This record gives sequence, C-alpha cells and structure tokens, in this order.
Amino acid sequence: MNLIFLGPPGAGKGTQAKRICDKYNLTQIATGDILREHLKNETGLGKKAREYIDAGNLVPNDLIIDMMRYEIEKNRSKGGYLLDGFPRTVTQAEALDELLNDLNDKIDVAIVLNVPNSELMARLTGRRVCPSCGTSYHLIFNPPANEGVCDHDGEELFQRKDDNEETVNNRLEVYTKETKPIITYYEKQGLAHHVDGVGTVDEIFNLINEGIDSFVNN
Ligand code: AP5
Repeated sequence: MNLIFLGPPGAGKGTQAKRICDKYNLTQIATGDILREHLKNETGLGKKAREYIDAGNLVPNDLIIDMMRYEIEKNRSKGGYLLDGFPRTVTQAEALDELLNDLNDKIDVAIVLNVPNSELMARLTGRRVCPSCGTSYHLIFNPPANEGVCDHDGEELFQRKDDNEETVNNRLEVYTKETKPIITYYEKQGLAHHVDGVGTVDEIFNLINEGIDSFVNN
C-alpha cells in the first residue's frame, strides 16, 4: 500500500504519518525531514535549498523531483511507503505519476488533513521537535512527559527555524497558492479522502484509519 498525506503546514501530517507507518509497516518518506538532513550535512542540494526553506518558500520542482525519484526507488524494495510533504505542486504530482508508471507502481489513497489557518499558527509556533528521532511535540497541545526533552530518547527538543510567525504566514500563503490545487488533481483521480484534522491526535488517527480501510478494502 502506498499513501500520500496532504494538508497545510501544521495540519499534523508528520504526527499522524509516524503512527500510520507503524501500524501498516510503511516507510515514511518526508520531504521536509530529508531536506533538513541535506541542510545539516551541507550537501550540494542542502546549500541550494536553504534559502527557500528558511523563507518558507518551496524548493524548486526540479531539485525536489530528482531527490524524490531517488528516495522512492531506494525505499520501494522495503514495501509500501507514505509520502509526507510530496507532491506539493501540480508539476510534482505529474512527475510522480510518470515515475510510478515507469515503476509499475501506484498510489492507493491521498489523505487530505483539513485544519483552519487560525489553529495552524498556534500549532506551528508552539511546536518543538526531537533532533534525534524527529518526534513533534507541542508546548500546550501535545507536551512531552518531562519539559523540554523527548519521551523516546531524552534528547533536548528544539524549535524549527521556519516556525516563527512571519515565516508561517508565508508558508500558509504558499500552500494556498501552490499546493491546494493538487487536492483537485487527486479528487479527479478518485483518490482523495478528506479528514477533519481538528480534534485529539487519537481521534484523527482513527478517522485516517477508517479512510484507508474504505479505500483499500473496496
Ligand atoms: P515540511 O517539513 O514538510 O513542513 P510542512 O508541510 O510545512 O509541514 P510541517 O512539518 O510544518 O507540519 P505537519 O503537517 O507535519 O505537522 P506536525 O505533525 O509536525 O516542509 C518544510 C519546508 O521544506 C517547506 O516550507 C519547503 O521549503 C520545503 N519542502 C518540503 N517539501 C517540499 C516539496 N515537495 N516541494 C518544495 N519544497 C518542499 O504538527 C504540527 C504541530 O501541531 C506539532 O507541534 C504537533 O504536536 C501539533 N499537533 C499535531 N496534531 C495535533 C492535534 N490533533 N491537535 C493539536 N496539535 C496537534
């Protein structure tokens, strides 16, 4: 089974993707996480991508498509995968279709997480992340058991550079302009399943599971 998670910044894609991958034994391929590794390791791609990520703009399509072709080909031998943060433009969605066609592979369902902008700002500015395992917490909505450290490995949590108010505003605008149109792209293919992303993490997890089951068992 191969899935796509769509939704605005802060919709809970990463939070839910980890749980869904554990349940269905899928590999999470998260473009943001992969790009941040490139930044940290100062690779050629990392150096080119930094200015876009720090400003909350999209990294150019050609760089992302090359990166994702490599990641999908590398991971598909392990079984199913969940694409978190890709595609993000119609050009990327078309490139993904071409790649899957070449690989004789397909997407089973695109889960669309819907959350209003008023809630997204609070979620993102209060987010804290584990540098080691990538788990996302929230100062108020989803705090770790011990303040400032990860429940899983005790690492000190940090705030992402693009989680400040100004950059979040730009990320939300970019989402509306460039990424939202691909929801229609997947609706037309009969692959989109909308989920209300407001509620507890457990409630939303259950709704996503119901959506996956309704597509995969039909
Ligand atoms: P990326 O890292 O993908 O960021 P994003 O899409 O903006 O998504 P986020 O990771 O911010 O949010 P999320 O939906 O995963 O939410 P989370 O679960 O953490 O991309 C970063 C940048 O990389 C982009 O801006 C761009 O520059 C570049 N990039 C990436 N992909 C690209 C592509 N394909 N093309 C071009 N450029 C690309 O949750 C958020 C917070 O809410 C957390 O604190 C969490 O604890 C909390 N939370 C989660 N669920 C709930 C809930 N139910 N109730 C309350 N709080 C909750």
